[in-house]
Amino acid sequence: MCSIIGYSGNENAAPVIVKGLRRMEYRGYDSVGVATESNNHIELKKGVGKVEVVNSKFQLDDLPGSIGIGHTRWATHGKVTDANAHPHPSNSGKIAIVHNGIIENFDELKENLKKDGYSFQSETDSEVIANLLQKNYENLNDVKNTMIKTVSELRGHYSFIAMFENGQLAAARYHEPLIIGIGKEKYFLSSDVLGFIEQTDDVIYIDNGNFVLIDQEKMQILDFDGNEIKPQITKVSKEFADVYKGDYAHFTLKEISEQSETIFKAGETTKDSIKKSSDYLKNAKNIYLTGSGTSHNASLVGKYLLSKYAKIKSESIIASEMPFSENIIEPNSLLIALSQSGESADVLEAVNIAKKSNCKIIAILNSLTSTLARESDCVIGMNCGPEIGVAATKSFTSQLIILYKIIQELSDEKMVIDFQEISSSISQILMEHNKIKKLANEIKDISDIYVLGRGIHYPIAIESALKIKELTYIHAEGIAGGELKHGPLALMDSSVFVIIINPGDSTYQDTLMSAREIKARGAKIIGISDKSSDVYDYWIQIPKTHELTFPISETIPIQLLSYYAALEKDTDPDYPRNLAKSVTVK
Ligand code: F6R
Repeated sequence: MCSIIGYSGNENAAPVIVKGLRRMEYRGYDSVGVATESNNHIELKKGVGKVEVVNSKFQLDDLPGSIGIGHTRWATHGKVTDANAHPHPSNSGKIAIVHNGIIENFDELKENLKKDGYSFQSETDSEVIANLLQKNYENLNDVKNTMIKTVSELRGHYSFIAMFENGQLAAARYHEPLIIGIGKEKYFLSSDVLGFIEQTDDVIYIDNGNFVLIDQEKMQILDFDGNEIKPQITKVSKEFADVYKGDYAHFTLKEISEQSETIFKAGETTKDSIKKSSDYLKNAKNIYLTGSGTSHNASLVGKYLLSKYAKIKSESIIASEMPFSENIIEPNSLLIALSQSGESADVLEAVNIAKKSNCKIIAILNSLTSTLARESDCVIGMNCGPEIGVAATKSFTSQLIILYKIIQELSDEKMVIDFQEISSSISQILMEHNKIKKLANEIKDISDIYVLGRGIHYPIAIESALKIKELTYIHAEGIAGGELKHGPLALMDSSVFVIIINPGDSTYQDTLMSAREIKARGAKIIGISDKSSDVYDYWIQIPKTHELTFPISETIPIQLLSYYAALEKDTDPDYPRNLAKSVTVK
């Protein structure tokens, strides 16, 4: 969603904050702002656009002082305007806040504050926090008691940082991430370690329902009742620092290209968990898989793998549907939750629902320090390094590899899965990128693309359509091969492109037949297959391999096609419009 950052130290705060915001832009990037304190006075600059754009327009990093706060926004309440950008000052200008999350009772709080004479400059829910803090501070004259009173009045999911004109910082966490970075004579507050990782790897993860006070002398953590909490400092992996694009034009291209390597790391640092999770699976009464977006698509692959290779029945449920699927979870069952970030609000809610039914939770995730990791009984790490591009790419293939490792562990006479062969297939496909680039040029002006697959390739078709939508803004839909004649065939004419996922396995003949039916209606066919056919107008060859390699081999060319089509259409592949990397609100 949004990212928040705070800094109190011995350097100029604004450049440090701007640098941190650039790194956290994946969380939201429609507007940006910074406020700093100097000589007991708060100065603030903000505007619509990405960090680079707003900074060169307003020189955010020129703001004076060694204490400050910053924000990148992903709009929830109120349009994308300069006024709605954060930080928000209180009416007196003596307090400024940045906020991530949603204040559910903001309407009621706003009305009450208006009755007390407060006015509002934005349409956001966040601005009430600034004025509520001002009102409480004027009454209590003490930052600690002001925070206790304020958090007791707020409802919703939030983390916020408030800066007072005397240079004190105060920050609270309630169901949104908040992390302290501890450097030499300096403190950082941030939504993500990426906000400060270049400066320190000593961090404190703030627990839900706690708040932090930082002034020139000390840092204190307290619970919402005001009891002091003993800080627990952890070291984060330096690998987090690997968030540069290097020679790549975009993070998305870098992350697509890394997959021949990242697949080897999937599950590696949490090897015991693969064994533990297979024990859970063997003993579970019922098994469910859940996730959102790409992670849900991986869960659909998981369901196929479990039934085909381990003869285990399972159910895949979209995380956001869980609250509306009454009685779907049998008590004392097992839920496998997949999530790159481990912070998706929908996934956390699904986990919460399952836990209420006394289910065990296995988490397959990239961020081992995320909320989901802490909520789970067994954690399996993707270890694919930070994924900055908003569209999930390498995390998807890492999720599949972990699922492969689980079924390998479950199989009686240990299935042999050749991970080297999977990696070589990825490398081979990546070498074809010039051919895929040309195809991207052909599809750039098309308004509808369909992706068809059967069996285990159907979730890949859905995932492919999702990638095309996100990166190119072209309408795309995944179709289960057999469903073609039950409706989608009506859409086929010479104006559409259809990508046929057709590896030489048990789905091959039926899918080839579907391709012919489509071709007869005039649509252009892109075949993704290890076998050529006259039915394909364009053939993307994938290596002939073990059937388990196919889902990964099929995914890579479509990631590349979506990336290059985004370039053709002059959209930003790293930051698709209206989206954010981790969706921490419902
Ligand atoms: C798609 C995409 C999203 C995420 C979804 C879940 O490319 O990035 O659909 O997959 O928001 O995110 P995580 O996996 O972090 O829970």
